[in-house]
Amino acid sequence: MKTILVTGGAGYIGSHTVLLLLEKGFDVIVIDNFINSNEESLRRVEELAGKKVKLYSYDCCNEKDFEKVFAENHIDAVIHFAGLKAVGESVALPLRYYENNLISTINLLNLMGKYEVYNLAFSSSATVYGDPKSVPIYEDFDLHVFNPYGRTKLMIEDILRDISHINPKFNIALLRYFNPIGAHPSGRIGENPNGIPNNLVPYITQVAVGKLAELGVFGNDYPTPDGTCIRDYIHVCDLAEGHILALNKLFSGCGLVTYNLGTGNGYSVLEVLHAMEKAVGKPIPYKFKPRRPGDIPACYASPLKAYQELGFKAKYSIEDMARDAWNWQKKNPNGYEQ
Ligand code: NAD
Ligand code: UFG
Repeated sequence: MKTILVTGGAGYIGSHTVLLLLEKGFDVIVIDNFINSNEESLRRVEELAGKKVKLYSYDCCNEKDFEKVFAENHIDAVIHFAGLKAVGESVALPLRYYENNLISTINLLNLMGKYEVYNLAFSSSATVYGDPKSVPIYEDFDLHVFNPYGRTKLMIEDILRDISHINPKFNIALLRYFNPIGAHPSGRIGENPNGIPNNLVPYITQVAVGKLAELGVFGNDYPTPDGTCIRDYIHVCDLAEGHILALNKLFSGCGLVTYNLGTGNGYSVLEVLHAMEKAVGKPIPYKFKPRRPGDIPACYASPLKAYQELGFKAKYSIEDMARDAWNWQKKNPNGYEQ
């Protein structure tokens, strides 16, 4: 069976993907410095899977430490989740973002070359499309980025395109995620944001559980049917499945490939709020607030290419996503910190 190195495997998307990898019979090695996660997520993953993960509590920016992972293991492929991801924080602390996201990736690529590991799935983001000319968004749309976080994603994509160009042995999947939400249906693992959440669904669940007073809906004057922004929300377990399919593609020897991982459906902020109210079984207080700088009116994927070339199709509905997000929050009001 193949061995997959998962950087950032203790994080939100990483933990769900590690669980699915274990369930599918892969051996999994995780490197994570827990800068935005908790070791408890991996303990629970192991408990759900009934299998162990080999964990290295290292920073990918420390190349000496990182090299031990490659020197001590035979690795067939890498899924690279490790990175900082808060857009607002990246505007305030750009160097931190460039340093962490770029150096960790450059170290990874040097080590992959040195140890002849040529299969890589990279966590990119729909943020690389900026404000798209139209929706749905296709993979060949122009790329524009508006903040340091987005720039790190685009720079890494560019680096990977350059590497693939000079070294055809590399198989690389650039996976552009839309808006991952929800949690594993068991309610044992889920999203565990530090402090006040920036993202919509964790904010709503924290209002529902009584930790926050009310949701601020950023803008009700967008050119959308109800005036609030539209996004492509995808269940984190569907996203995890997308990584398994991407690995199959890498192992078939695909060179560099790029896929949107979304559902193709757009939901407005108010539609998400109403789906959450149904799941929670009570109204969730909210107030309209001014637009949040940098937000675009509508962003949703064409999921066609991932369907045609990977066989990827999201299975979970917005109701499922709302149910599982609430189930996780309700069972773990303080996340992994009990
Ligand atoms: P997350 O913060 O929950 O997970 C990232 C993990 O990487 C954390 O466990 C963190 O501790 C670890 N990490 C960060 N820097 C590290 C370093 N230098 N060395 C070792 N470990 C390090 O985030 P997530 O939501 O699971 O996102 C995973 C990836 O997907 C990120 O690259 C993110 O940018 C990308 N992405 C996320 C979203 C989203 O909305 N969640 C959307 C698009 C893309
Ligand atoms: N929103 C609110 N109130 C909140 C939080 C969000 O109204 O308290 C709205 C936003 O204005 C936006 C929508 O809910 O219209 C979704 O916002 P999120 O912050 O949950 O998600 P974004 O689409 O802004 O950003 C996400 C990821 C980024 C990624 C981007 C594009 O968080 O990392 O998708 O893929 F870059």
